[in-house]
Amino acid sequence: MPTPIRPNVLRMAPYSPGKPIDEVKRELGLSHVVKLASNENPLGPSPKAVEAIQAAAQNLHLYPDAATFDLRAALSEHYGIGPEHLMVGNGSDELIHLLGLIYLSGPADAMVVGDPSFVRYDAAAYLSDSRLIKVALDATYTHDLDAMAAAITPETRLVWIANPNNPTGTVITKTGFDRFLSRIPAHVTVVLDEAYYEYAEGLDDLPNSLDYVRAGAPVIGLRTFSKAYGLAGIRLGYGFASAEIADAIHRAREPFNVNSLAQIGGIAALRDREYLGESIAANTRGRAQIEAAFREVGATPVPGYANFVLAEMGTEAKPIFEALLREGVIVRSGHVLGLPTTLRVSIGTEIENETFARALVKVMGSKVTA
Ligand SMILES: Cc1ncc(COP(=O)(O)O)c(C=O)c1O
Repeated sequence: MPTPIRPNVLRMAPYSPGKPIDEVKRELGLSHVVKLASNENPLGPSPKAVEAIQAAAQNLHLYPDAATFDLRAALSEHYGIGPEHLMVGNGSDELIHLLGLIYLSGPADAMVVGDPSFVRYDAAAYLSDSRLIKVALDATYTHDLDAMAAAITPETRLVWIANPNNPTGTVITKTGFDRFLSRIPAHVTVVLDEAYYEYAEGLDDLPNSLDYVRAGAPVIGLRTFSKAYGLAGIRLGYGFASAEIADAIHRAREPFNVNSLAQIGGIAALRDREYLGESIAANTRGRAQIEAAFREVGATPVPGYANFVLAEMGTEAKPIFEALLREGVIVRSGHVLGLPTTLRVSIGTEIENETFARALVKVMGSKVTA
């Protein structure tokens, strides 16, 4: 008998990244395929980040700065918070993993997540054999904070809230979040995962994790360079937390968890405000295109504030997903996201969005009467 693998590890599904473009081309004999399935930035990376990374490549024989001193100094200056409150990781995925490691130790610990929400939170529970409490989103596809507060028990250590949420794009309000925080017991820490924050910034009544961390509330904020900053490939996420929590993460992490190119690229991207502005503006324009495309075929886009649009199709979405694939457009079918009558479409370039819109009309037919 080989050494048994822990059952909880085998219960986890490997992360499914969406169908690769080359696979779809090969399988369906297509020459042109558009992928709008992984919530990547269609503008490509900031040219300033690329330039800085190219220059830094000369030093790849050296280990990265284990303390990420310059990157944390740049983030500290940018956000006006001490570097002792900053955590950086190999994508915010790694910070999610590390938070599980420092807080969850087995079946006596529990964590609460929205359902559906970002799938990697679940892994934190599985890897530690801790209890995973899933709380359904409300009828508007938004985190149901009252139900989440009610799901907290003496065993609960962490509550995860993606804001905007993935896969729905919906946001909770600051008013609702404050009420939620006033209801939770002292042994619970709340992770506000703001991977898509930059796209929602400026909305009325939007909570900002930074304010809570500054005020000493039991809140951890997570952000990433993968979305609005366009650096998903280099893997760089960061977070705001109390000095005690950030210190625990530094103890638990690998010594060189953020590679040297990510450290240099992150600083350059943070300073490229022009790129960020265009990235957000292009996303807003693209969202209007995708929402209009869904309305044209009689589907209902969920009001969202991220770099993707979820739409209620009013019918099983898998056949529509498959028909779109045959048209050379890869999106995410809701059946893999826990919402089988929805499609999630990442916002692409103007041309990619038009390609999606045309394919959707071809597959479903226009419901717009002249
Ligand atoms: C809500 C949410 N959090 C975290 C992540 C992970 O981002 P990163 O690329 O920084 O690991 C994603 C990625 O899609 C996400 O949707």
